[in-house]
Amino acid sequence: MAAGIDDIAIYIPRLFVDSTDFATARGVDPVKLKQGLGISRMAIVDSNQDPACLAANACLKIMQRNKIAPSDIGRLYVATESSLDESKALNSYVIGMLEQVYGDDSFEHCGGIECKFACVSGSYALYDNANWIRAGEAEGKHAIVVVSDIAKYDMGSSGEYTQGAGAIAMLLNDNPRLLQFDSKVTSTSIKNEYDFYRPFGKETPIVHGQYSNLLYLIQVKKAFEAYKKKALETGIVKMKEGETILDHIDYLCMHLPYSNMGKKALSYLLRREWRSLPRWKRIVEQTGMEEPVPKDPRGTIESILADEEYMGNDHQFNKLFTKTKEYQAFYEDKLASSLIASSMIGNLYTASLYLGFRSCLEFEFQKGVELEGKRFGFGSYGSGSSAMVFSGVVQPSYKEIVTNMNLEAEIGERVKLSLKDYEEIHENKRTPTESMLNGKNEFVLVSVEKAPESRGERKYAFCQ
Ligand code: COA
Repeated sequence: MAAGIDDIAIYIPRLFVDSTDFATARGVDPVKLKQGLGISRMAIVDSNQDPACLAANACLKIMQRNKIAPSDIGRLYVATESSLDESKALNSYVIGMLEQVYGDDSFEHCGGIECKFACVSGSYALYDNANWIRAGEAEGKHAIVVVSDIAKYDMGSSGEYTQGAGAIAMLLNDNPRLLQFDSKVTSTSIKNEYDFYRPFGKETPIVHGQYSNLLYLIQVKKAFEAYKKKALETGIVKMKEGETILDHIDYLCMHLPYSNMGKKALSYLLRREWRSLPRWKRIVEQTGMEEPVPKDPRGTIESILADEEYMGNDHQFNKLFTKTKEYQAFYEDKLASSLIASSMIGNLYTASLYLGFRSCLEFEFQKGVELEGKRFGFGSYGSGSSAMVFSGVVQPSYKEIVTNMNLEAEIGERVKLSLKDYEEIHENKRTPTESMLNGKNEFVLVSVEKAPESRGERKYAFCQ
């Protein structure tokens, strides 16, 4: 049985920090953020928003737009790394909010859990729900997978400029209008790592930034190797001499903690795919230098990062490689459109990959490209660490969904924060009743109980 994404809805907080204002305040060159990392704005949650209400707002959008009743939904999964409680799942908050609109107990038949594995958990949630549908357990019902996060780093840290917030709800069923997943090719890699983690009780993560960048690339590459084997075995891709499997994938969507990480991931994969192909000689000639090799090619991530000579040369080679006409053509055709939304919104952790997918659909469609039958490859990464690589094909009815996509309209009128307001929100100096904006057709957080017997209980309201 088929399974895939029928529709996709986003909810992005309307407050944002401008990257130039932010860089200036932190004494960083604004060009570093704009060009070096690809960040122009970061969405910031108001003091009356949390990951649960972001998720509920995305869910409500997808249900209303498709006129879906709670009785049509068999499963509602929420994937997040911004969990609110060590025990109570984010789903229960979301269902509580949705029942304010659809009526008490309207979701009582609906199963689901909160999923956690840093930024990759949404992909595991999609895979598990796709398999629930493929197994025939859905009995005609839909599944909703919501990915919702607030990417928040310590003030003054280098992670602070890779923040953002938002939620994406994806409607899954056995007759998807948008994208049907390829079966039996989804591949994973996993390893115990401390590249980025958030110990209990700590609001912001402990991050080893450069280590996490390299680990991301290595883990995605491992999952990609397993994907390649399966894609050839199942026959979804038939390769000729001198080709790479990437020649047969029309679009790539990568996990995007910041927009330029997509470019890094693409060049990492392409260099390793193209090295053994006849085209490599021509490409290296264009760079005018030999591709460098680390002192210890089988070394650890630490030893490679510590090999300063290699890191410097490799950085230089990579820059030249990304200027070659082969890389440029690949980048423009298969990746560039997926990076646009990330620059406008920032890091969404679990939702970043799917914001990229949404971005690619909208901006490729705007270019007038016919998307039916195009294959999307997804490279998902979660620190800690695990990667998942999978793919799917755009379905004949995709225009029903994509025609109406308009990122700016869907976000709504955005409000630029002053650095003072941003810092007060960041440091939790404002209560839900001191929010900057009033909610409109959305759920907001009203209060969080402090008394010992009810500590942590959250109340939400739907603002008309
Ligand atoms: N003008 C233009 N570009 C500039 C610049 C300037 N003045 N200064 C720096 N840059 C470029 C750098 O060359 C680099 O680009 P490159 O990697 O293509 O060479 C980019 O800007 C970032 O600079 P870098 O010095 O590497 O940034 P950083 O040490 O401040 O940290 C992160 C960047 C991403 C590691 C940091 O923001 C972080 O830890 N983020 C959170 C963790 C994360 O997102 N991990 C990703 C994997 S999940």
